[in-house]
Amino acid sequence: MALPFLLLQLLILLLPPLAASSTASFAKPGCEDKCGNIPIPYPFGFGDPKCYRNGYMVTCNHTSNPPKLYLSDSNVEVVEISSLGQLRTKSLVSYDCYDQTNDHGSISFNLEDFPYTFSDTRNKFTAIGCDTISNLIGFQGRNFTSGCNMLCIDTQSLVNGSCSGIGCCQTSIPKGFKHFIVDLGSFYRHNFVMDFNPCSYAFLVDSDWFNFSVHDIVGYMDFFNRNEGMVPIVLDWAIEGYTCGNASTSDLNYACGKNSECFNSPNGLGYLCNCSQGFRSPQRTRMLGIKDEE
Ligand SMILES: *[C@@H]1O[C@H](CO)[C@@H](O)[C@H](O)[C@H]1NC(C)=O
Ligand SMILES: *[C@@H]1O[C@H](CO)[C@@H](O)[C@H](O)[C@H]1NC(C)=O
Ligand SMILES: *[C@@H]1O[C@H](CO)[C@@H](O)[C@H](O)[C@H]1NC(C)=O
Ligand SMILES: *[C@@H]1O[C@H](CO)[C@@H](O)[C@H](O)[C@H]1NC(C)=O
Ligand SMILES: *[C@@H]1O[C@H](CO)[C@@H](O)[C@H](O)[C@H]1NC(C)=O
Ligand SMILES: *[C@@H]1O[C@H](CO)[C@@H](O)[C@H](O)[C@H]1NC(C)=O
Repeated sequence: MALPFLLLQLLILLLPPLAASSTASFAKPGCEDKCGNIPIPYPFGFGDPKCYRNGYMVTCNHTSNPPKLYLSDSNVEVVEISSLGQLRTKSLVSYDCYDQTNDHGSISFNLEDFPYTFSDTRNKFTAIGCDTISNLIGFQGRNFTSGCNMLCIDTQSLVNGSCSGIGCCQTSIPKGFKHFIVDLGSFYRHNFVMDFNPCSYAFLVDSDWFNFSVHDIVGYMDFFNRNEGMVPIVLDWAIEGYTCGNASTSDLNYACGKNSECFNSPNGLGYLCNCSQGFRSPQRTRMLGIKDEE
């Protein structure tokens, strides 16, 4: 099991960074700016409550090597944080498998208590299988149900790298929802495809990461086990409840510091801070998002 897990870690590390600036150090002075190899830009932080803004606490667990980062005190593992409004975490894969019995695992991902939503530009709802009924049900902020249904008869009709409806199907998602569940089932309990496809899987995933391979639908739980049941997903974050237009710079809770500029988050969630022109040197970037008195 160690090898496939390392492989997932490796694949995640090989992904292009969410934004060019995500490697710079943006922590508050006196606060830890990294958890293992993962840079932690303010408003995110851990330890002393002065190190993070309300709602952006993360936990760095040193039990593992390298240490692992989690959202707040949840079990959602964070892989990368970009100061320009995105973070990458792991998300569960739901499965529906048949042989003598039916092994079934559903997933639910709830961000209701966090200032994040699932990124509509970076994620796709993805289902794989040849006897597959799958739905993504989103709520909290926006209610919708959409999905993918598929029947295919052999592996010859499937194409590596192609997710266009034969064995692999992807759909776009709307902006602005904070909770989803995945509903997964089959038309014929995989009876007609059992010899090559005993399982269906469905998940929301960073679409840059997932590349369908015919291998993925073959074998009992193979895709699930190979990925330790997890795939990377991208969340959008912003300072919620205000836009640059109505956030008061004199408000004690205003997030952007002296040398940073306010910009409205692309996903309409709120605002973010970007370093002002002329303040982009590595030393100066430490000040990003930090108020004058700090
Ligand atoms: C760190 O992770 C270990 C193993 O997963 C767990 O037992 C421990 O409670 C965690 N510590 C904290 C502070 O969350
Ligand atoms: C979404 O559905 C929930 C109940 O499932 C309901 O309470 C809520 O008002 C709905 N939201 C919208 C925007 O329709
Ligand atoms: C698809 O990719 C797998 C490896 O992931 C390879 O074994 C197989 O031969 C490929 N099939 C086709 C048709 O290219
Ligand atoms: C996906 O995999 C196919 C072959 O399996 C390859 O030709 C293609 O370049 C890959 N696409 C990406 C984006 O990695
Ligand atoms: C600021 O503007 C946004 C978007 O128009 C609105 O949703 C929000 O409620 C406003 N906040 C305040 C405090 O006025
Ligand atoms: C942040 O600043 C950089 C450098 O000027 C600029 O290229 C980038 O577009 C800005 N990002 C946003 C979202 O405003």
